[in-house]
Order: sequence, then C-alpha cells, then structure tokens
Amino acid sequence: ALGLLAPTPPMGWSSWNRFGCAVDEQVVQQAADAMVASGMRAAGYRYVNVDDCWMAPVRDAAGRLAADPVRFPHGIAALARYLHDRGLLLGLYSSAGETTCAGLPASLGHEDLDAATFAAWGVDYLKYDHCGSDAETAPARVQAMAEALAKTDRTIVLAVSDLGQNEAWRWGAGVGAQLWRTAPDIADDFASVLSILDRQAALGGYARPGGWNDPDSLEVGNGGMTEAEYRAHFALWAVLNAPLIAGNDLRSMNQDTARILLNPDLIAVDRDWAGVSGRLACTVGSVQAWVKPMSDGSAAVVLLNRGASPAEAGFAARCLGLPANGPYRVRDLWTGQQRETVALRYGSVPAQSALAYRVWAAR
Ligand code: GLA
Repeated sequence: ALGLLAPTPPMGWSSWNRFGCAVDEQVVQQAADAMVASGMRAAGYRYVNVDDCWMAPVRDAAGRLAADPVRFPHGIAALARYLHDRGLLLGLYSSAGETTCAGLPASLGHEDLDAATFAAWGVDYLKYDHCGSDAETAPARVQAMAEALAKTDRTIVLAVSDLGQNEAWRWGAGVGAQLWRTAPDIADDFASVLSILDRQAALGGYARPGGWNDPDSLEVGNGGMTEAEYRAHFALWAVLNAPLIAGNDLRSMNQDTARILLNPDLIAVDRDWAGVSGRLACTVGSVQAWVKPMSDGSAAVVLLNRGASPAEAGFAARCLGLPANGPYRVRDLWTGQQRETVALRYGSVPAQSALAYRVWAAR
C-alpha cells in the first residue's frame, strides 16, 4: 500500500533547544529512556532527534560523514539500535550547504553518499538545515537530498529547516519533503511564541497529511516561561498541527511539564486525521480564538489571552464554525471536564495563557 511518511505530524524530542552543541550519546540515550519511562512513547512521541554537532569536524577517509569521536564514541548505528530496541526512531541533522549552521561538514554535493550513510546507520528522520543556501538554491538542494533518500532502502522523513526564509511551504511537498519550517528559531520566552504564532496565520492552507508546517520545536519545560505560558504554547502548536517535538531535558522534567506534554486531548487535536490546520477565527480585545475544524465535526478552540491582565472572552458560535443555536457539548482540554450547555460561555482567560476546548454541536 502507498503510505504517507508523515500521515500525522511527527512527535518526539530534539536535542537542540536544551543542549545545543553539548549533545552526546549519553544525553540522547537518557532522553530516550525518559521518553519511555514518562509515558511519552506511549502517548505517541517516537522520534529522538540529534540536532547539529553530532558529526566529526572532518569526513572520514572514504569521504563519509562520521560521528564526533568524543561525544558519540559508539557511533550513530549503535545509537539507532539503542532507540529501535526501545520502539523509538532516530532523527539526525545535516544542512543543504557546505557546512552546518555550527560550521561542521554538511551535505551539499554529498547527497547520495550521505543519504546512503544515514540509511545504513538506521536513521528514520533527517532535519535538513539551510545554512549556505538561499531562496534561489534551496528547492533544488532539498530536492537533491529527497531524491538521494528515496534511492536508499529506508523510509526517512525529510524536514526542511530554513527558518521559514525560503517559503518552503510553497515548494517543500513538491520536492519530496514532509515538513518545512515556517518561522525563525524559537526562544524560551512568550514573545517568541507570539511572534512565531503570528507568522502562522496565513499558512494553515499549506499543511495537510503528509506535509506539515513546522513552527519549530517546543520550549515547554525549559524554564523561561510560566506554566500558563507553556500551556498556551503547547495548545497553540496542537491547533496548528505542528510537529510536537519536545525540546526540554526529559530526564528532569517536573509534573507540570509532563502533564502538558502528555495531554491526551491536545495530542488528539494535533493528530486529527484530517489534518486541517487551525486558524485565527476571531479576536476580542487581547483574546484571540484559534479554531481547528476536527474530522468528527467538532471544533478545537484555543482562547489565547496575549495581554498582561485577565480578560473576559465571549465568541459567537458562528465564529467558531459551529451552528448558531445550541445545545453544545463542551470539553475543557486542560481539566477534562465535559458539560452540555445551551449557550457558549467562557470564563475569564488568565493573562498570557490559553484555555483550550473541544466543542460539539449536541444536536
Ligand atoms: C539553525 C536551525 C536550528 C538548529 C541550529 C543548529 O539555526 O534553525 O533549529 O538546528 O541551526 O545549528
């Protein structure tokens, strides 16, 4: 059967946000162990993505990329086996230029050899960065890697990572990628979440099963935002069907962080099979309603208060894409409480936070 490589947005973990270039095989293995022990694997998180800086500063005698001998002494194939033995998948990183963004060897001109190397190692996902390419060269450079990957005997997800600079949402699927970044690098603060969000408003139409907008990996649990802000960040990424790639230290995450990353209702919103992206449906004062039509006819609604004080929010059913007259069944996706109501009413939305609901027409 012809299957899509990414029928739903990929879920997993990436080393970059928390560890940057200080990544090594122990950190990755421990992240994998924590993914299993915390219940994340069972919740759908599968990819363990080693970002930039895994490679040695020079290619080997045969011209192949090699793992950094100090930080990955057992090599990438052994790491892939470690993950596969635990029901997880390996993501790796390279760039469509002469060097990665950290200045290490990258894949331009070596696409076939590198793709064959990745496949031989057991890689399942390739994040393909942009450093050294530009809007003119990017599509052909990504296509060269997509074609090289297609020649191997593995199915490897290809994620374009170009800070959203080259509008890859327009051409990514056409050249064989499954994901494309739609924004610059995320930072661990609420202003970054809001500025990335604002760039997504016009891009929802480019996301669909098999090809996803990628507003960057998650900062949930990294310490720079309040729990309320992290909830908003996660709920918004879920209505945008973003890849849910955790970026925190899974070995030491607290209960609040785990509860956010494991929220089954929001994960279900993110992975809804129809893959229709949420959009900014209406705004009242500092509160925005981001609404995602779900495949069962319900609406996933995230009420985001961007302001610094609590705000009352009331939105017409019409704006949420629901019939004008109730009753409605409303499920609070943070508390799990469900109730039937004739009129849609929401309480006050706390400052810099988001309430999240799923609403069904009950009749
Ligand atoms: C770029 C990417 C980031 C990360 C770094 C690594 O900035 O956008 O996600 O991969 O490179 O150097």
